[in-house]
Amino acid sequence: ESPSYLRGKQIVVTAGPTRESLDPVRFFTNRSSGKMGYAIAEIAANLGAHVTLISGPSPLDVPHGVKRIDVETAEDMYKEVLRHYEQADIVIKAAAVADYRPKITFDQKMKKQEESLVVEMERTQDILKALGEKKEQQYLVGFAAETTNALQYGKEKLDRKNLDAVIINDVSQEGAGFSGDTNEATFISKQGRVEQLPLSSKRQIARQLFSLIEEELKGVEQ
Ligand code: PMT
Repeated sequence: ESPSYLRGKQIVVTAGPTRESLDPVRFFTNRSSGKMGYAIAEIAANLGAHVTLISGPSPLDVPHGVKRIDVETAEDMYKEVLRHYEQADIVIKAAAVADYRPKITFDQKMKKQEESLVVEMERTQDILKALGEKKEQQYLVGFAAETTNALQYGKEKLDRKNLDAVIINDVSQEGAGFSGDTNEATFISKQGRVEQLPLSSKRQIARQLFSLIEEELKGVEQ
């Protein structure tokens, strides 16, 4: 690839789902495959960045030139992201982090009972919000997976979490969001840029994302 603004930059990408255990054999998770985050990590490495990929459980291979750190829970992901945050130039949070986890994780496999089962869930840490609060030089990008009022909720996330940009997937659209090889999204930045990313491969979305970030960083320098 040709020289790029990413050469030598430290990039942290999160990808995949998290897994929140109920007992040694059962857990709560979601439909994220990791494909979006892995595509972002791969493209960034091709463009010359030093890439750390903090990944929940995913069957995907580590992209060439990328350093992967495996995590399981939202709590693990929080710790690893924070550990790499200070050195990072760009942080992209494509992971689908659990918002809730079982309040109690049992050490032994739960026995079946006659009655119905109620599992109490508690909130996990909001990693992105914590990063927004600690932000210094980092360019911070969040993802938003929405099914209704996608643009409005995405914009609210941008402001509330002090992000530089957010990529909004309307996951109710065919070909967008979880698991597939394609995505369709809207990029919105703090500086007011709104860019439609039409249906294309997750790699292509990743390429467009880095062009947009380049434009954004130029805007800040002026
Ligand atoms: O992995 P794929 O199968 O390729 O699918 C891609 C994807 C749909 C998972 C991805 O593109 C995506 O949208 N990821 C974010 C999904 C999500 O959890 O959205 P959210 O609106 O719940 O969260 C918003 C943002 O906050 C995300 O950047 C998320 O990483 C972050 N978050 C959420 C909860 C939490 N406890 N901590 C967080 O940091």
